[in-house]
Amino acid sequence: MPPRDILLAEETLFRDDSIFNPDHIPDQFRFREAQLREMTFALKPALRDGRPGNAFLIGPPATGKTTAVRLVFDEMAKETNKVLAVHVNCHMHPSAFKIFSEIHRSVFGMAPPDTGTPLSKVAGDVFTRLSKEGKVLVVALDDINFLFENGTANDILYMILRAHESYKGILTSVFAVATEELLHELDERVRSIFSPVRIDFPEYSGRELRDILARRCEAGLYPDVIPGELLDRIASRSRDLRFGIELVKQSAMAAEADACRRIEEQHVEKALRAMTRHEDVDSGKILLSIVRSQGPMESGKLYELLKREQGMSYTTFYRLLQRLKSEKALAIKPVEKTRGKTSMISAK
Ligand SMILES: Nc1ncnc2c1ncn2[C@@H]1O[C@H](COP(=O)(O)OP(=O)(O)OP(=O)(O)O)[C@@H](O)[C@H]1O
Ligand SMILES: [Mg+2]
Repeated sequence: MPPRDILLAEETLFRDDSIFNPDHIPDQFRFREAQLREMTFALKPALRDGRPGNAFLIGPPATGKTTAVRLVFDEMAKETNKVLAVHVNCHMHPSAFKIFSEIHRSVFGMAPPDTGTPLSKVAGDVFTRLSKEGKVLVVALDDINFLFENGTANDILYMILRAHESYKGILTSVFAVATEELLHELDERVRSIFSPVRIDFPEYSGRELRDILARRCEAGLYPDVIPGELLDRIASRSRDLRFGIELVKQSAMAAEADACRRIEEQHVEKALRAMTRHEDVDSGKILLSIVRSQGPMESGKLYELLKREQGMSYTTFYRLLQRLKSEKALAIKPVEKTRGKTSMISAK
């Protein structure tokens, strides 16, 4: 290796590593102009003291749904203080109490005490304050599929959307976010008040994905760290954008560890191996073998097993189920239980 290719220990290939963080909000959010417009359009009535529309943002993983919500909500906050737009991740806050605690935090600047306070009090305090201040409440329920999984979606939507019946003058709306359309799983009482406009986030094409990655590299890496043909390669090996962003980051780290000033093919391969080592293929096989040997089982029970034995996260479990379902390796059937709904998983 020529000496000039050797990176000194204190040097780095990253102009700014935070650009590759999962929660980074990109300066440029391309290919989503139509979706942003539709979201803004739904919110517009709130600026004239009207009720904003409800929306359902639907699209496969890493298609920019969460980013779009955060951008539009931030924009809204800059424009007016009449609207309180709260973004809640339902995976992290999977119950009515937890969701209302997040809303409470936005309204009062702090969460309610998490022991002893009944949900009705938390919700009551929130709505009373909003109604007094004449503020409109918009709640984004991101990854709302978790609320369908645990059977709480109907009650939570009902509580938010029916608030105007008990609290004078209050206006509320919900932006639901999920990878698939779940409206058919709602009770009739909820469906009649939650008729959202559907906003689709289609998968990025190969060219779009490459373009977005190239911009991330420009912002996060020094010039010429990644040759164009390797970017092509990374884009073509990425099953989605999130994977692609992580692959760029890991490849740059592998190059740095080798004291190289540029990413080479071997670094991409090394990063790919590290990222896919524990992944889906093996976990998918394990999941299928459990369902095949033990017969149909509830998704919650299956998840508990995989969590205990594989340390699997819920997100991985959920995505794995969706993948195996789309490959027609297993069937997922919703079933009613005394307390809410669940899904039965069976092998095909
Ligand atoms: N159009 C875009 N331009 C730039 N970056 C983007 C774009 N779309 C998505 N991203 C980036 O891709 C990553 C995933 O985006 P995001 O989290 O918004 O996807 P998502 O649709 O919410 O995915 P999931 O369904 O898995 O929650 C983030 O790092 C985000 O910054
Ligand atoms: Mg998301």
